Amino acid sequence: MNSVPAVRRLRAGDAEAAAALVRSAFAAQDAATDPPSSALRETADSLGAWIEADGGCCAEEGGALAALLLWAERDGGLYCGRLAVAPAARGRGLARALMAEAEREARRRGLTRLHLRVRLALPGNLAFFAATGFREVAREAHAGYAEPTTSVMEKRLDP
Ligand SMILES: CC(C)(COP(=O)(O)OP(=O)(O)OC[C@H]1O[C@@H](n2cnc3c(N)ncnc32)[C@H](O)[C@@H]1OP(=O)(O)O)[C@@H](O)C(=O)NCCC(=O)NCCS
Repeated sequence: MNSVPAVRRLRAGDAEAAAALVRSAFAAQDAATDPPSSALRETADSLGAWIEADGGCCAEEGGALAALLLWAERDGGLYCGRLAVAPAARGRGLARALMAEAEREARRRGLTRLHLRVRLALPGNLAFFAATGFREVAREAHAGYAEPTTSVMEKRLDP
């Protein structure tokens, strides 16, 4: 199948499947990260709380969640987190479709930017977000790390 499946909002009932997808997707990143991603510790409770408080979007394939993105209004923009595509569903534009939905959501809310954090150890992810219109605005180190571990990226939205 070449077409991108329909994107819909995450619902409270998706929490368990969403947590399983996030854990399996982040366990299958291009490289292991130091420190390991906190996404590996997501649970139905933690993601259920995020979905209820702020929401996000997802796409299904064959009746199962294949991709998802959480968001939250933060620091004057729409923060995007936990972008996760099932390993078998990668490379077919699902992540790009979810980021486009986040952009529509930000515009609906009258926000002028999207922002997110990407590990510096994952050049493929950095390239994906750069190709999607994001640029680095800062670098941060995890607590206890002397060198930066994370790129803070944003995408400015034209009014
Ligand atoms: C990163 C991730 C979300 C990409 O999902 P995806 O559905 O495969 O991405 P898409 O198919 O929408 O890719 C869009 C473009 O980015 C490129 N791209 C995506 N991931 C890439 C990678 N790891 N390395 C190089 N290029 C990549 C694709 O080639 C594609 O380019 P094209 O439009 O020129 O063909 C997915 O690999 C994933 O879930 N990874 C594990 C979790 C993770 O790291 N999430 C992001 C945390 S910041």
